[in-house]
Amino acid sequence: MDKKFKRTLVTTALPYANGPVHIGHLAGVYVPADIYTRYLRLKGEDVIMIGGSDEHGVPITIKAKAEGVTPQDIVDRYHKIIKESFEELGISFDIYSRTTSKTHAKMASDFFRKLYDKGEFVEKTSMQYYDEEANQFLADRYIVGTCPHCKNDHAYGDQCEACGTSLNATDLIDPRSAITGNRPVLKETKHWYLPLDKWEPALRKWILEEHKEWKPNVYGQCKSWLDLGLQPRAVSRDLDWGVPVPVEGAEGKVLYVWFDAPIGYISNTIELLPDTWETYWKSKDTRIINFIGKDNIVFHCIVFPAMLMAEGSYQLPENVPANEFLNLEGDKISTSRNWAVWLHEYLRDFPGKQDVLRYVLTANAPETKDNDFTWKDFQARNNNELVAILGNFVNRTIVLTHKYYKGVVPAAGELTDYDRETLKEFADVKANLEKYLDNFRFRDALKEAMNLARIGNKYLADTEPWKLAKTDMARVDTIMNLAMQITANLAIAFEPFLPFMSAKLRGLLGMEECDWNRLGSVDIIAAGATVKPAELLFEKIEDSVIEAQVKKLNDTKEANKLKNFKPEPVQENVAFDDFLKLDIRVGKVLECQKVPKADKLLQFKIDDGMGGRTIVSGIAKYYQPEDLVGKEVCFIANFAPRKLKGVESQGMILSAENADGSLVVIGPQGEVVPGAQVK
Ligand code: MF3
Ligand code: ZN
Repeated sequence: MDKKFKRTLVTTALPYANGPVHIGHLAGVYVPADIYTRYLRLKGEDVIMIGGSDEHGVPITIKAKAEGVTPQDIVDRYHKIIKESFEELGISFDIYSRTTSKTHAKMASDFFRKLYDKGEFVEKTSMQYYDEEANQFLADRYIVGTCPHCKNDHAYGDQCEACGTSLNATDLIDPRSAITGNRPVLKETKHWYLPLDKWEPALRKWILEEHKEWKPNVYGQCKSWLDLGLQPRAVSRDLDWGVPVPVEGAEGKVLYVWFDAPIGYISNTIELLPDTWETYWKSKDTRIINFIGKDNIVFHCIVFPAMLMAEGSYQLPENVPANEFLNLEGDKISTSRNWAVWLHEYLRDFPGKQDVLRYVLTANAPETKDNDFTWKDFQARNNNELVAILGNFVNRTIVLTHKYYKGVVPAAGELTDYDRETLKEFADVKANLEKYLDNFRFRDALKEAMNLARIGNKYLADTEPWKLAKTDMARVDTIMNLAMQITANLAIAFEPFLPFMSAKLRGLLGMEECDWNRLGSVDIIAAGATVKPAELLFEKIEDSVIEAQVKKLNDTKEANKLKNFKPEPVQENVAFDDFLKLDIRVGKVLECQKVPKADKLLQFKIDDGMGGRTIVSGIAKYYQPEDLVGKEVCFIANFAPRKLKGVESQGMILSAENADGSLVVIGPQGEVVPGAQVK
């Protein structure tokens, strides 16, 4: 660690308590933050890790309204799920609190008041939509209307989800209140704005000049924001859920969620350390690191630092190692579309496999670009890396120690050149790991730790102690001692990444301490120490388990298609006489077969009561030919015949198109004579 810092404050973005956390949150924020914190703790440094739920904001009130419960009910439900699932995954927060706590209400309120008293805000009135029946101003998400760009009639006041355009509420054609359905009126309202423009020069200097070492994705995003020029930002809202604005005449107004949430980091530190919290926030020798996802960069690098500068007594973050996004099976993770692997469900479906998820999310972390999580990759990494390399080496070492020495670790004799070569290979594991971990390169760090297991495997494979055991037990002593030292090194090196495996392994080896500074040494386990019998650290994951998870996702996809189905708009009116011009008949399927060389087409022989006819229909993907034989179908009888793949079709069988594009053949609900007319 850089000499000038005496302690580290690690913060993790506070997840919204309007849903559980998923693998995207974990890979982006919580797993890397936990690895980093565990690493510093192992080194014996002074570090605290702060977390909590973000429990304010409009989406929570909308969800509450939709379910007919209070916002507090919603956040109580998800805060519990989130907190418990983090704990079970081994995310080692020193505190995980929430922004509905008393401490936070006071802290956020006092913070606002201090800025207010210093004259750091600009007051402005503007016109905003108001629902006269519900007696309230409408947040952007509470206004729906027609998108001026794509004419989707369910666009929100801040965005049209059909075409992706971001909107102002006043852009909407025919705006309606989502609460009453009424047309809202424009009404004047007053809000407090933080003049970001005032802080722009200081922010430019702090980020663009003094923090060139930040990750390119973070630095680049900041630069483009700064180059666009900063505008004042409203920090209050007309809403009845949040921290009240502590100013006279501000009834019905609360702090904007992005004003109060980052202050939550401070409030939660106060809850953890009521007497010494200020050291972590205000001394120059504290290093503050904010772990976040890329959608939070502007708030953590521009808005919150401007708030802290305006306040005047706080330290700014030393680094904000934001990650990119993790996708799932090729699609963007989405809470509203239920396209996610939810942590609490993973823990239920894969009990005892916390480390597997931690491993996969780190090995595939979206550190420099968006990445994709697939269940196939999850299985492959478990089976080919955790089981075949790490688990296999540790298991062989302990099994052989029991086979030859009843579990008592032998003393090493004289080292051969090959032994020395092997030692050299892992001598710099500590330096390499530190180089990567200090720079938030967790994927590379994990690879380095895994490399240690590869070295161990190779050492056993090359020296073959099971062959020497018959002839040269003294040599076997040395080999097994060295293999045991590598095993002990693995227990230390992997602690930040795979804490459950590490704890289990240390239990087997009787290692009381896990001291990072011992990493790379070959006397961690004393000769004469007894190790427990081997237990498997990882187990193979079978195809059927993975297939079940993939099926679950496919079911979600199908359900979403049905949920999002919007019928086509009804066409222009037609006269009854025009309808009668279409001659629709009922017929019975006599024969049905695939059309050769055409994977979409089925060829029917239909009893039409008039001697029979042939019809070709593009429904081969949805039916087995034999399933339709004997069924009654409706067809258009007066289309001119036409050739399809060489077969003349004399009409068209009617089908309905489902939400997923599949076709279902239409037929009568009772017995009808072939040739009957449909009217
Ligand atoms: N709740 C926000 C999100 O999920 C993150 C808030 S981070 C904090 O995007 F700094 F505001 F706490
Ligand atoms: Zn649109």
